[in-house]
Amino acid sequence: MRVAVLTGASSGMGFAVARRLGAEGYTLVVNSRDPAQAVRRLEAAGYKAVGVAGDLKEEGTARRLVEVAERIGRLDALLLNHGGPPVKAFMEVGEEEWREWFERMVVGPLRLLRLAVPLFRRGGGGRVVAITSFTVKSPYPGIVLSNALRAALVNALKTAALELGREGILINAVAPGYILTERIAEWNRGQAAREGVGVEEVAARTTGSIPLGRYGKAEEVAEVVAFLLSERNGYVTGQQVLVDGGYVVAT
Ligand SMILES: NC(=O)c1ccc[n+]([C@@H]2O[C@H](COP(=O)([O-])OP(=O)(O)OC[C@H]3O[C@@H](n4cnc5c(N)ncnc54)[C@H](OP(=O)(O)O)[C@@H]3O)[C@@H](O)[C@H]2O)c1
Repeated sequence: MRVAVLTGASSGMGFAVARRLGAEGYTLVVNSRDPAQAVRRLEAAGYKAVGVAGDLKEEGTARRLVEVAERIGRLDALLLNHGGPPVKAFMEVGEEEWREWFERMVVGPLRLLRLAVPLFRRGGGGRVVAITSFTVKSPYPGIVLSNALRAALVNALKTAALELGREGILINAVAPGYILTERIAEWNRGQAAREGVGVEEVAARTTGSIPLGRYGKAEEVAEVVAFLLSERNGYVTGQQVLVDGGYVVAT
């Protein structure tokens, strides 16, 4: 029996990873602020799933997730994910908002990883993946919280990967490009409103700039994440893997 703890896993890419690991027989500990419906869907598909409701920024959420895994008896895989921060330009973000999102996007995931390490050690190792964004490689204007805080997380995880590799704990980030989820639909609506054009125009411009000519699917990201989270991944650690259809980010 293998156990996976997944945060931000009630929709989009997180849910696709949960489904993928469920199909591989993992017992799933599924977090989001409201994971009840996702857990019901996973159970209906025949997978073993337990829900833990809570914001990743709260200390209690991380503690409860690790406690549930401890009760089940082991931890093999940890997915660090959450919803994206508000789409805001540099001059629009005040100190309080910086602190709130730093807690959610950096402190929260790192706290959970720190609490999970003893459980990984007990089992002789483990696998960790954080979902980040292609914009970490090349920051995009108008999303300063995402650009800055994901970069901080990725470098902290890289450090952890270097320090924990000898204990069999492999830690990577997966950076999605444009993946068709509710998050991207919301992004397109915002962009269209800002530019005073139609949503279709924004979508067509995006897909036109992607070498594979289309948005990615959550399942295509989940496939890569599931590999990195499994024991099939024997020698990849400390990396950020882009799943972006070949998108060339302007520098
Ligand atoms: N879609 C893309 O093209 C794209 C591209 C680059 C990067 N990303 C990033 O990849 C991540 C996942 O994107 P997605 O499109 O799959 O998003 P999504 O469909 O909005 O899913 C986000 C998930 O996280 C949960 N969540 C939100 N806030 C949370 C919190 N504070 N604590 C715990 N769980 C939380 C949500 O459920 P609840 O509402 O129940 O909490 C939901 O299950 C986001 O950070 C997004 O910015 C997405």
